[in-house]
Amino acid sequence: MSSAKRKWAVVTGASAGLGVEFARQLARKGYDLVLTARRRDRLEKLAAEVERDMKVSTVVLESDLSVVGASAALVRELEERGIEVELLVNNAGVGLHGEALAMPIDRLSAMIHLNVTALVELSIALGAKMAMRGSGAILNVSSTASFQPNPYFAVYGATKAFVTSFSLALAHEVGPRGVRVLAHCPGPTRTEFNDVADMSASAGDWLYMSAERCVAIGLSALDRGRWLKVTGLLNAIAAFFSRRSPMWIATIVAGRMMRPTRPPKALTAGD
Ligand SMILES: NC(=O)c1ccc[n+]([C@@H]2O[C@H](COP(=O)([O-])OP(=O)(O)OC[C@H]3O[C@@H](n4cnc5c(N)ncnc54)[C@H](OP(=O)(O)O)[C@@H]3O)[C@@H](O)[C@H]2O)c1
Repeated sequence: MSSAKRKWAVVTGASAGLGVEFARQLARKGYDLVLTARRRDRLEKLAAEVERDMKVSTVVLESDLSVVGASAALVRELEERGIEVELLVNNAGVGLHGEALAMPIDRLSAMIHLNVTALVELSIALGAKMAMRGSGAILNVSSTASFQPNPYFAVYGATKAFVTSFSLALAHEVGPRGVRVLAHCPGPTRTEFNDVADMSASAGDWLYMSAERCVAIGLSALDRGRWLKVTGLLNAIAAFFSRRSPMWIATIVAGRMMRPTRPPKALTAGD
């Protein structure tokens, strides 16, 4: 491909789980890739794999997006390299399972910064460049947790409610400027997410979707110009009823499903 015709996609959280799959499937579609996350070794291994197998170009940028200023630095780095981003996949995200009052406040703040602030900052900075060119797309990875309050996943669920709401509103605003935005809402999916989230309430294994399928559903929905996509029929049915139930009922149901199986931690006033 000549450099003038290159399409660049930025994938955040490309070192594991859905991010690895986004990178592989986008490379198969011919995108050159900017891969970013904290674990550089994993990013470099993935970059070598897609360059070899799919003959695309890659740039690896190590970044901790939970840190103030990291997304601005990432955007500056893209500008300095002359990379015009055609597709932004805001995938990086973490959860933290358990009683909100027993969680270290610094981990909660970092999660909010990563799941919400960095996603907004990248969407605005790169979305504005797309709108000025009149083409581009943003896929924001949200969750079925965004459709109801989630006891024992209270802060994570609230960050994802933000992501779904923000993405739909942005889709409406920027569509006329030639930019597509999708709120991609996976349910339980086989990745490293549960380990990182310290999850002790797990849905049955049969409910889990493969990362490959989850990503394929998201990319196909983006191609079709959808604003919101819940992955899989069961998740779509659950989301449908969540959104149509009184919020207090949806909260109680989610709380029963998400109740930790291990004994509660001692409260430490957020230390
Ligand atoms: N798996 C599920 O069941 C599920 C369901 C609904 C929604 N989701 C959403 O799907 C997205 C991807 O998660 P996953 O399931 O693929 O989990 P995962 O396997 O744990 O991958 C998470 C990715 O995010 C990156 N990340 C974490 N903290 C970061 C930070 N501070 N700065 C930059 N990157 C960071 C990780 O890379 P490093 O650690 O190398 O930085 C990793 O690449 C998340 O937004 C998650 O909320 C997942």
